[in-house]
Amino acid sequence: MNEILSVNNVSKRYGNVNALNSISLQINKGEIYGILGPNGSGKTTTLGIILGVLNPDRGSYSWNGNTPTKYDRKKIGSLLETPNFYPYLSARQNLSIACKVKEVSEGDVDRVLSKLDLLNRADSKFKTFSLGMKQRLAIASALLGNPETLVLDEPTNGLDPQGIAEIRNVILDLANEGKTIIMASHILDEVEKICSHVAILKLGNLLTYGPIESVLNNQEQVVVASENLVLLERTLSQIDGVSRIQKNGDKLSLILASGKDSTYLNKALFEKGIVASEISIRKTDLESNFLELIK
Ligand SMILES: Nc1ncnc2c1ncn2[C@@H]1O[C@H](COP(=O)(O)OP(=O)(O)O)[C@@H](O)[C@H]1O
Ligand SMILES: [Mg+2]
Repeated sequence: MNEILSVNNVSKRYGNVNALNSISLQINKGEIYGILGPNGSGKTTTLGIILGVLNPDRGSYSWNGNTPTKYDRKKIGSLLETPNFYPYLSARQNLSIACKVKEVSEGDVDRVLSKLDLLNRADSKFKTFSLGMKQRLAIASALLGNPETLVLDEPTNGLDPQGIAEIRNVILDLANEGKTIIMASHILDEVEKICSHVAILKLGNLLTYGPIESVLNNQEQVVVASENLVLLERTLSQIDGVSRIQKNGDKLSLILASGKDSTYLNKALFEKGIVASEISIRKTDLESNFLELIK
């Protein structure tokens, strides 16, 4: 089986805040899984739980089918919150310390520095690093010991567009090596550009999940108008392949099943005695689908 992580009905409360409400997720090997949601939706809590930093109130999770031990968790590379590097130590010294904590060979330091394009600044003090370099160092640290799975919380947080693009390429490279990556983000664009799968959280509830193209798909909305909107709506609801009829000002919008087009709809309406004054196609973009989901 390819399943790396299974989360089963996990709930977590902080006082009277329902941070997570019975979340279930399955993540398979090689996926780049985005946990997408606005601030406060429970992303960091989810990652904290699967990394064993937080205990769930209810529910369970397993890595590779087993209840995780401390030893298993060490094999997962993680970036959770801003890492605490020592400002007056160099990048290399900071990573050497991280190696001791993670009990991996210090021989790995130069490999990860090179991977994150930091080798030429390896001996500079951490405090002299730009935000982008600090973030790259944090990812380098997560890569120590060459873990098969990476868990990254908002890996591009606070970066400029160039820094974001750099991190994106690093993540895509890692995925190409076959690593499984689980990343939280509140930025739709980032998830869309990087991830193969996505789960959308809102106020601790899992709204939807699956392959990115099916969750955030570019569905074509059909906009229809005619003289009598009530009659139009009633008639549309009787036509095969028509779903999600919604009022849109003095028009109606709907989704047509695949294989059905506006000509089909026009004909079907006409056969039922309705003359449409407008039938037009409106492509809904990913952003509006996402906003619709979290509304
Ligand atoms: N230590 C904590 N104490 C109290 N409330 C918390 C704590 N951590 C998170 N929360 C609350 O839980 C909810 C989910 O937070 P979080 O998982 O950090 O969301 P996200 O990472 O999506 O922004 C928020 O309402 C947040 O305020
Ligand atoms: Mg967070």
